[in-house]
Amino acid sequence: MQSKRGKIMEFKDKRVIVSGAALGMGNLICRQFAAAGALVTACDINFEAVETLAQEICAAGGSAIAVRTDVEDYDSIQAAVDAAVEEFGGVDYLINFAGGAATRTFQDFAPFWERKPRLLEWGVNVNLRGALYFSRAVFPEMMKNPGGGVIIGIGSIDSETGTNNVEYGSSKAGIKGLIKALAVTGAPYNIRAVCVIPGPVLTRANMATMPTLLGHAAEPDELTEFVMYMCSDKARSITGSSHLVDSGRACAVPLLK
Ligand SMILES: NC(=O)c1ccc[n+]([C@@H]2O[C@H](COP(=O)([O-])OP(=O)(O)OC[C@H]3O[C@@H](n4cnc5c(N)ncnc54)[C@H](O)[C@@H]3O)[C@@H](O)[C@H]2O)c1
Repeated sequence: MQSKRGKIMEFKDKRVIVSGAALGMGNLICRQFAAAGALVTACDINFEAVETLAQEICAAGGSAIAVRTDVEDYDSIQAAVDAAVEEFGGVDYLINFAGGAATRTFQDFAPFWERKPRLLEWGVNVNLRGALYFSRAVFPEMMKNPGGGVIIGIGSIDSETGTNNVEYGSSKAGIKGLIKALAVTGAPYNIRAVCVIPGPVLTRANMATMPTLLGHAAEPDELTEFVMYMCSDKARSITGSSHLVDSGRACAVPLLK
């Protein structure tokens, strides 16, 4: 498959589950995996959007199903994994893109000490608990595969720099610990786990103004193709580690004034 950054690898018949597939990088990686031959289960709480995505992928000759999935709810996640197994016979990769700032989702920008408990709970659930639940649900499937599987956690630059989005930054820091624990637990079964930590990414135009060393935000496909590399056998020796793709923002403190 060709992308604007050159050829990306083939994933023929690899079975991938993507959470947060309605928008942004989750949506893009579903299209890219499908174009590279993978069998895609697109999960999101926004069912209409993932249904449209799956239809577009199938119309273009790929294979995808859409499942309404609420990552706050274990049963919903288990149902998504069951649907993927029924349709495609198993799971090779799990990509946990669901996430986001609770303040933006609730359009409630109260300072931390005035935030409603539900907002804090959403922040932790969607950014950390969902990935924990999804990993638990796919593990038995990946353990059945002779080749194991790969679990990708998506962190955030906010866990590296600190942020007043306290529930977001702390949950994204938790993803790094989750990935280490999954790497230890999964290694005997050939299951790798990798955390990818984006800096500003142009899924939203305002990310362009965030200071970085290189002076630019990343295009979404830079992140998605990095995640795909981490899933591929080219990354067979990478597990338990976290990888910044942040245009140098984590060491851009002098620029933050
Ligand atoms: N865009 C950036 O600059 C940036 C920077 C750092 C980290 N990230 C992380 O990357 C990931 C993707 O970001 P993006 O900007 O590409 O996408 P996005 O924020 O536009 O989309 C997030 C998706 O998560 C879904 N979602 C929300 N609640 C859900 C729930 N309860 N159950 C299932 N799905 C749910 C949304 O419907 C949406 O489709 C997020 O985890 C985000 O925190 C993004």
